[in-house]
Amino acid sequence: MQNIRKVTNDIYYVGASNRRLSLFENVYPIPRGISYNSYVLVDDKTVLFDTADKIVELQFLENVEAALNGRNLDYIVVNHMEPDHCAVLEEIIRRYPDIKVVLNAKTVNMVKQFFDFDIDSRSVIIKEGDKLETGRHTLTFFMAPMVHWPEVMMTYDITEKILFSADAFGTFGAINGNLFSDEVDFEHEWLDDVRRYYTNIVGKYGGPVQTALKKASAYEIDIIAPLHGVLWKKDIIPELIEKYTKWATYTPEDKAVMIAYGSVYGNTQNAAEILASKLSEKGVKNIKLYDVSVTHPSYILSEAFRCSVLVFASATYNNGIFINMENLLHDIAAHCLQNRTVAFIQNGSWAPVAGKKMEEIISSLKGMNIIEKKVTIKSSLKESQLKDIEELADAIVESLK
Ligand code: FEO
Repeated sequence: MQNIRKVTNDIYYVGASNRRLSLFENVYPIPRGISYNSYVLVDDKTVLFDTADKIVELQFLENVEAALNGRNLDYIVVNHMEPDHCAVLEEIIRRYPDIKVVLNAKTVNMVKQFFDFDIDSRSVIIKEGDKLETGRHTLTFFMAPMVHWPEVMMTYDITEKILFSADAFGTFGAINGNLFSDEVDFEHEWLDDVRRYYTNIVGKYGGPVQTALKKASAYEIDIIAPLHGVLWKKDIIPELIEKYTKWATYTPEDKAVMIAYGSVYGNTQNAAEILASKLSEKGVKNIKLYDVSVTHPSYILSEAFRCSVLVFASATYNNGIFINMENLLHDIAAHCLQNRTVAFIQNGSWAPVAGKKMEEIISSLKGMNIIEKKVTIKSSLKESQLKDIEELADAIVESLK
């Protein structure tokens, strides 16, 4: 049965959600599910904006048919060619063989890479700023390369001031009936997933995101319609842009401390927890402490984008960094995080080297202020070393001022 929603008088939400998939992109846990958003404009001409993932194909196709209400589909706009949005493209062309595919030159090549159908005879190749009239509506397009793939573009509906933003402003989390931001609890229910989605999926591309934000700022926007998650209404857009600007410029969102530890038998954990207690006694609030073997790195990476001070505590393992910590640090480095204060605690029963190796990874990143005071544990923290933890806590508190 179709499950379509009106976004405006002429535009329908035809996307669908999935709560069974455990890993988005086969990497990221999605305990709140995921939605694959798609939209149909019903005007003198009809337009579909992107398709959906294979996993929701049947619901999506029923929804498109229902939104069209017996009409043919004249255009599909392909804003993004990643398969979570283009997987049903070939089936759409099969069902609506006269359709024109609106896309940019980079997208054409990607269509050819993913599919074998004849794209050239159906293509309407657009460039930055081109317009498409559909009757009452005028659409315009701007390129947003690397947000999150090189072919990405965004579509702006000039008539109804809607930005079809592709992956930008997307989020993990299925649609639970409430489709719009003013129907949900952004702070408590959605913000963490908005951040985790942005930082993990697009976080590496802060520069291109800043460019896209600048382009989007030229338009008055009433609704942002992303490819995942709720649609953002006007009242929340400034807050969302503020968050995006911080994330894209690698500016900490909060003056806050996150401690991540990799511990085999609990002794490194013990040192991390004692540091957290000392910080608390010194007045630091809302400390976050994560076991890298328990919490998926996508959550810790997201917290690393939020917090101003990061502490990494690791056992030495195979003459290197404890494996899950090494994975986390490489993930942080791959996402090009910048401008953080960072401290290290290392453990090693005979040759502690984790600290040096962790520092090598982090110091390759821009704007990292590495706290000089290092704490080394040999097997377990001793009474005589509490002063080291105390000194490290003092240095962290100082950096928060
Ligand atoms: Fe949701 Fe980059 O695809």
